[in-house]
Amino acid sequence: MKSGEEGSNGKATTTAAENFLEYGGYHHHGRHFSTVVLQITVLFVVVGFSCLVLYHTAYPTQFFQSFYNPNPTSENSTTHDDAMQSNFSSPFQDSPSANLSSLGNENNLERVLNKAAMKDKTVIITTLNAAWTEPNSIFDLFVESFRIGNQTQDLLNHVVFVALDEKAYSRCLGLHPHCYALSTDGIDFSGEAFFMSEDYLKMMWRRIDFLRVVLEMGYNFIFSDADVMWLRNPFHQFHSDGDFQIACDHYWYNYTDLDNSPNGGFNYVKSNNKTKQFYRFWYESKDKFPGKA
Ligand SMILES: *[C@@H]1O[C@H](CO)[C@@H](O)[C@H](O)[C@H]1NC(C)=O
Ligand SMILES: *[C@@H]1O[C@H](CO)[C@@H](O)[C@H](O)[C@H]1NC(C)=O
Ligand SMILES: *[C@@H]1O[C@H](CO)[C@@H](O)[C@H](O)[C@H]1NC(C)=O
Ligand SMILES: *[C@@H]1O[C@H](CO)[C@@H](O)[C@H](O)[C@H]1NC(C)=O
Ligand SMILES: *[C@@H]1O[C@H](CO)[C@@H](O)[C@H](O)[C@H]1NC(C)=O
Ligand SMILES: *[C@@H]1O[C@H](CO)[C@@H](O)[C@H](O)[C@H]1NC(C)=O
Repeated sequence: MKSGEEGSNGKATTTAAENFLEYGGYHHHGRHFSTVVLQITVLFVVVGFSCLVLYHTAYPTQFFQSFYNPNPTSENSTTHDDAMQSNFSSPFQDSPSANLSSLGNENNLERVLNKAAMKDKTVIITTLNAAWTEPNSIFDLFVESFRIGNQTQDLLNHVVFVALDEKAYSRCLGLHPHCYALSTDGIDFSGEAFFMSEDYLKMMWRRIDFLRVVLEMGYNFIFSDADVMWLRNPFHQFHSDGDFQIACDHYWYNYTDLDNSPNGGFNYVKSNNKTKQFYRFWYESKDKFPGKA
């Protein structure tokens, strides 16, 4: 529907698709690790483009280690509904033996999603770890972007923060109504995870599996990395008939071109049989194609 360039040759297209599946659409901008300046992702919603162009840092948690405050005054979980019901520390307490079903987290997730969802069962999901929830770090900037953005204030009510560790969970509970604690057997995601390191990959696979569960539960989602600033309402830009729409690093003015360098840091997925199957396949490719990522 948009102006386009000539399609690329089949080989290049296939390679791009394979890379995307293998690496889970990780965004890679390792060069930014060396800069001290915080690179904030800016979400450009470009009128007339069917692609969201994102500028990303990879996982710059190391920038925030020094902001650690052991007693954040804003932490206020005791009066919170979720804190009471989820027994607060339990999601991470029993690691490494903890598993989702034994913790009853699926029910908990259903409740969190239900509360956060828009009328059409769409939620906005982002993940957080301890380093990103330090005061004055990514978490605060992310929330701030919704407050100052154009038509984004209401969207904040539909954001679910998925905490990867206990500290992130407790800080979320103090500041936001929709928090979910995602435990992972024997893995501590609270610290820095360098791009393509073993922990980073585990975290990315865990995320894909988690999003699969969200789809299976019948919820559509926008997944947004927490370092994406929501300054405009992206819903105006989506194709109404798209099942899976993803940001890309390089856009070739053709929204079906597989060479568009998809970037997993921002995507919009509608829950239906096709997308459920796609996420199952994507997650299973972790074992079907070992050594690829
Ligand atoms: C904790 O949260 C409750 C309800 O949101 C609020 O009334 C109270 O002032 C908060 N306390 C602190 C210390 O932030
Ligand atoms: C929280 O979990 C602990 C350990 O599983 C249990 O002893 C305690 O009773 C629970 N508290 C609530 C309020 O459910
Ligand atoms: C996970 O939970 C299920 C259901 O409660 C249980 O059958 C299984 O043994 C648990 N696995 C581990 C590793 O605890
Ligand atoms: C806010 O977004 C709407 C819809 O995309 C647009 O029409 C309007 O011009 C924007 N306002 C500002 C101040 O950018
Ligand atoms: C867009 O990309 C697809 C897939 O590569 C290709 O088949 C199609 O011809 C392209 N469309 C245009 C207008 O270039
Ligand atoms: C989706 O899959 C389920 C189970 O395989 C099937 O019962 C249902 O008819 C499918 N729905 C559509 C719209 O294809």
